[in-house]
Amino acid sequence: MKKFVNIKKKINNFKNKSIKVSGDKSLSIRFAILAALAKGKSKAINLLNSEDVINTLSALKKLGVSIKNNKKICEIEGRGLNGFKYKNSLTLDVGNSATAARLLIATLIRSKKTIKVTGDNSLKKRDMKRIIEPLNNFGVKFKKNSGTLPLWIKGSDSLKPINYVELRGSAQCKSAVMIAALNIKGKTKLKCVPSRNHSEIMFKNILKVPIKIKKQKKFDLIEINGGKNFKSFNYKIPGDISSASFFIVLTLLSKNSNLLIKDININPTRTGIISILNMMGAKIKFINKKIYKGEKVSDIFVKNIKKLRSIKLSPAYNSSAIDEFLLIFLVASVAKGVSEFKQLQELNKKESKRLDWGFKILKMMGVKTTKIGNHGIKIWGNPNLQLHDNYKIKHYLKDHRVFMVSVIAALTLGGNWKIYNPESINTSFPSFLKIIKKLNKPLN
Ligand code: S3P
Repeated sequence: MKKFVNIKKKINNFKNKSIKVSGDKSLSIRFAILAALAKGKSKAINLLNSEDVINTLSALKKLGVSIKNNKKICEIEGRGLNGFKYKNSLTLDVGNSATAARLLIATLIRSKKTIKVTGDNSLKKRDMKRIIEPLNNFGVKFKKNSGTLPLWIKGSDSLKPINYVELRGSAQCKSAVMIAALNIKGKTKLKCVPSRNHSEIMFKNILKVPIKIKKQKKFDLIEINGGKNFKSFNYKIPGDISSASFFIVLTLLSKNSNLLIKDININPTRTGIISILNMMGAKIKFINKKIYKGEKVSDIFVKNIKKLRSIKLSPAYNSSAIDEFLLIFLVASVAKGVSEFKQLQELNKKESKRLDWGFKILKMMGVKTTKIGNHGIKIWGNPNLQLHDNYKIKHYLKDHRVFMVSVIAALTLGGNWKIYNPESINTSFPSFLKIIKKLNKPLN
């Protein structure tokens, strides 16, 4: 791939087109890990073939799991709970994926030998204390750990269930504890600020492990009775709303355009961006809603809207839009009025410091914006915003979402953009640039 993409022209309007985006990343990683823990052969179609998922599969192969993966179907021969087989001094490198790291570490809590887990430069900056602490409470030992990767884990057979309280709204922390609980006899109880609930849905509807879920006003209570093996399963992975969101915003901000995006997972814990954009005046619709193994799936219809309005967003929406805020900031920069987003400190703990990058990109575009403490951003929208200067996006830790939002800004607002490291899309959405070309924009 080239060093950078150069975009000098806005996208031409596109109408009555329909696209498919790749399979959901959260569901693909969960499928791989849970299939490896199941007994027997599981199969998935439409598994996301991106680096995050491929790194997850490679790590599982090193743990002795037999996997066949071609573009159409992924088959995983699960080894059952505590069934991994591997050599001494094993290193698992999960590249860029915090989801893979956090969920995989939870599968290693009964390992007989010490295993090193590591990742790329971005992942090495990310906080692992948030999973080390609850796993320590189960009785797991970590050697030489500084709260970040690399870390060394040695499991134990004398682990005890725990009571765990999750206050960040992190689905990765919640899922790590849930996966650990599968491996431990007895009842683990979780009290969690709501976050994406794919793990709960898979445990209940697919694995059929004993799980109780109770919704309270501010918390979800989850109880898992662990230690029992579960059977293999088949799964068809729906499209990723986080990937679809780039095309939703591209269409929303492109004159006279409309688009149908097919087969997207619209789990309500993931559709924050749709609610937020609709509150700002968009008219995004779900068409052909279905339920598949407990997950909602639908086509999404979006059209260009000229008059968008600002929003003072309630932090209650933060978790359900957590991966989409760069796009939401971009929309706020052309919406009439002053928008405010608060309590988003978690955004600076992603693949790059995304709150800071959002601020930096908008400033570069000449948008009036200030930070709110270290946790929020205020944006003065300009519905007539048009860009004419040169813009360079570089050294952003190859954060796939920084790359893709910059492309969308360039295609909708103009200017001459050089956006470095296009290979960053391979993390989550390898076909991103191809789909744009299909919508008829010549990219250099
Ligand atoms: C994910 C959860 C989110 C999200 C990430 C995927 C998951 O992270 O940002 O892209 O699959 O559980 P947190 O749970 O840390 O907020």
